Amino acid sequence: MSCLVTVGGFYGDEGKGKIIAYLAKKDNPAVAVRGGVGPNAGHTFTFEGKEYKVRMLPSAVLNPTTRLLVGAGVLVNPQVLLDEIVKFHADDRTFVDSQCGIIEQTHIDRDIGEDYLKNKVGTTGTGTGPANADRALRKLKLARDIPELSLYMEDVSNSVNYALHNNERVIVEGTQGTYLSLFHGGYPYVTSSDVTASGICSQIGIGPKRVDEVLVVFKAYVTRVGGGPLENELSEEEARKRGWIEHGSVTGRQRRAAPFDIELAKKAIRLNSATQLAVTKLDVIFPQSAGLHEYTKLPEDAKKFIENIEGETGLKVTLIGTGREVYDVIDRRSS
Ligand code: IMP
Ligand code: MG
Repeated sequence: MSCLVTVGGFYGDEGKGKIIAYLAKKDNPAVAVRGGVGPNAGHTFTFEGKEYKVRMLPSAVLNPTTRLLVGAGVLVNPQVLLDEIVKFHADDRTFVDSQCGIIEQTHIDRDIGEDYLKNKVGTTGTGTGPANADRALRKLKLARDIPELSLYMEDVSNSVNYALHNNERVIVEGTQGTYLSLFHGGYPYVTSSDVTASGICSQIGIGPKRVDEVLVVFKAYVTRVGGGPLENELSEEEARKRGWIEHGSVTGRQRRAAPFDIELAKKAIRLNSATQLAVTKLDVIFPQSAGLHEYTKLPEDAKKFIENIEGETGLKVTLIGTGREVYDVIDRRSS
């Protein structure tokens, strides 16, 4: 496994950040490269009791030897990026494609100022949609135009392809989730770019034949923020009772919740050509699975839940999240 692409299988917030943080520690990749839209995504993970969040850097940031790359298709908010570089002491290992688009204050103002975006679509207000619109109009500034970023400029597609050529291990980090894809999600309740595996590969500049594994990450239940349909949505009261109420890591908005949706999962698997699956937050549904590392120790109903997903999809659930901590994972990749 030299090139692993990870993407979200639902509406974002599946726990990709935690899974990637785990893989970064466990597999020691030479390169982690972030695709997706931009700082509208917040990937969170907890390590040794401390919670971390990244909106621009790859979630592999806790591995000090992994090179951290941001692909050309990603929008960069320079301040958010520079703050994260300082916070994670990542100055000497962060590289940003010189053709990344730049989010300016005007994009943020439009994102929060336009009724359609703010109230109908329910965007994160981080300026990504208006910036991608300007990019399509060919008037967006690029990273190479920003002196503060000059230290970090690189041809990221070149670096990633070179690493793969040298058989180095590469993790490609997708953001958002399949059903927020501009092309394949429930338009107009989507983000401003394609966030399926193919889109992510395009954003970082690798061709489809370069990918060895596509890991689609699901959460044990479904959540979404903002507008748009959510099949079998629970009432707020019911979601609270089940402990499924979450809040957006970028906006703080309360997430809507629904039970795991196998049909949605199957379509996500097709859209992404998944080769393996992860299921996070199993402990939220089955509290007795909290903190476990061995599959055999899971309660029977939790095993049934996982085996039902495997039976329906024909794919193995290789990674199971059992808690907040990066290492709260059942890793079944070699069994
Ligand atoms: P935008 O990406 O900020 O334009 O927002 C468009 C839609 O995508 C809204 O419903 C947002 O809540 C949703 N969205 C964007 N990024 C994320 C994410 O990282 N997690 C969850 N939802 C997201
Ligand atoms: Mg998130």
